[in-house]
Amino acid sequence: MICIILGTRPEIIKMSPIIRECEKRGLDYFVIHSGQHYSFEMDKAFFEDLNLPEPKYNLDVGSGTQGGQTAKILTGIEGVLMDERPDVVLVQGDTNTVMAGALAASKLHIKVGHVEAGLRSFDRKMPEEINRVVADHISDYLFAPTGESEKNLLAEGIPDEKVFVAGNTVVDAVYQNREISNEKSEIMNTLGLKSGKYLLVTAHRAENVDDRDRLSGIINGINAVSEQYSLPVIFPMHPRTEKMMKEFGISPGGIRIIKPAGYLDFLQLEAHARLILTDSGGLQEESCILGVPCVTLRDNTERPETVDCGGNVLAGTDSKRIVEAAEEMINFVDCRETDDSAKPESPDNKLWQNPFGDGKTSERIIDICLKD
Ligand code: UD1
Ligand code: UDP
Repeated sequence: MICIILGTRPEIIKMSPIIRECEKRGLDYFVIHSGQHYSFEMDKAFFEDLNLPEPKYNLDVGSGTQGGQTAKILTGIEGVLMDERPDVVLVQGDTNTVMAGALAASKLHIKVGHVEAGLRSFDRKMPEEINRVVADHISDYLFAPTGESEKNLLAEGIPDEKVFVAGNTVVDAVYQNREISNEKSEIMNTLGLKSGKYLLVTAHRAENVDDRDRLSGIINGINAVSEQYSLPVIFPMHPRTEKMMKEFGISPGGIRIIKPAGYLDFLQLEAHARLILTDSGGLQEESCILGVPCVTLRDNTERPETVDCGGNVLAGTDSKRIVEAAEEMINFVDCRETDDSAKPESPDNKLWQNPFGDGKTSERIIDICLKD
């Protein structure tokens, strides 16, 4: 029996291809939702969009301090695992849900598979970096998305036989939902947006949005890029960022803020953007997969493949540097399948390869879990 643990927006999206694979094969599996994300647009919206069955367990832990939230998830998951005794537990990514899930399972001697293992920002100030390192070192199967992440794991002494380079399930999710999104989403019309004629922004990292100077730098930088290129900005805002904008009294200027979008709508917003500016991990990957240039509003990234292939550049949060990075990326040719008239000019004529696999990562992961 396989237990799939998830708790936040990106985990629902990146676990969805694994859930689909379990369904397709008629496997004995169940899902535990920690409840780390709970607002409709951060949680249920994705179950609806991705047509996922309701989790068997929802721990409803809600928000809290790092320790408080992790402790609640740990205790809740331990209780379920003691009752259910699955053969393997799968966790995905780097959230508090991941670390707590991996810890609960490993102490009960249940095998742990870490999906998206081996990513490293080498910045231990990020809660995510601690979560990744802990999860990797207590996991039995480390599903590294790329050779780069495999290298990080081997450098930390993790035995070779535990590491499987499998690609990233984000590619599976994009491929599985791109067509459905093209058919179903009306967001471009609803917002009155034209392909290649707007900037898409997201930001929610604690180290950015909980810091007044960094958040102001991002907002000022984005407004400056918008003015320089006369392009409107769409910013589907994470609740954490909404809260901090209010608390710091920061005005968005000309930025158009909307509620967090569902996945089918968001894929359209990404695929048609002229440029994506973000501090999200998933967006760095998806922009690379969709062939849309990306400026990352961070000083480091645990996804260096996106920079190495030429699809992404690190800007940090200084407004001048954001403008420079946007200048560097905005005229990149993109490989989107939009009609030619809608494509941005492409003086550089450069393309990049998606480094995250062929969209069959979830099949590989399930095959490996079923082998033992
Ligand atoms: C968490 C993850 C982060 C991931 C992000 C995905 C950790 C340490 N952080 O960050 O790695 O990139 O999810 O989006 O696990 N809130 C709501 N409704 C919700 C969820 C959150 O209003 O459904 C608000 C609350 O005010 C909460 C704040 O957002 O305090 C932060 O939520 P939390 O889950 O602690 O962290 P995220 O910033 O979402
Ligand atoms: N996403 C979404 N709607 C939004 C913003 C993001 O569907 O308004 C999706 C996005 O496509 C990606 C994932 O959420 O798959 C990224 O989540 P987030 O940025 O919250 O977390 P991170 O990837 O940084 O952990």
